[in-house]
Amino acid sequence: AFTVKLQSSGRLIAIPAGQTVVEALAQAGVEIPVSCEQGICGTCLTRVCEGVPDHRDQYLTDQERERGDQFTPCCSRARSPVLVLDL
Ligand code: FES
Repeated sequence: AFTVKLQSSGRLIAIPAGQTVVEALAQAGVEIPVSCEQGICGTCLTRVCEGVPDHRDQYLTDQERERGDQFTPCCSRARSPVLVLDL
């Protein structure tokens, strides 16, 4: 489990082990547009302001993955305790 922080409001949202970031955020009233929900299409791509994403997609290039400034919240998670998203 980890925590997502919304850059705009500073709001903290817990992401439990069994839930995706998209699901947990939707439950908190924050909608991220999705399509494939499998890390393939890139529709959900979201900017990461702080923290280290744990990329589980097949959409980003290795270079983009290493840069760590964006991730696919439909399937990817976090390596750091907190991920600050540009939302
Ligand atoms: Fe397709 Fe996230 S919805 S990559």
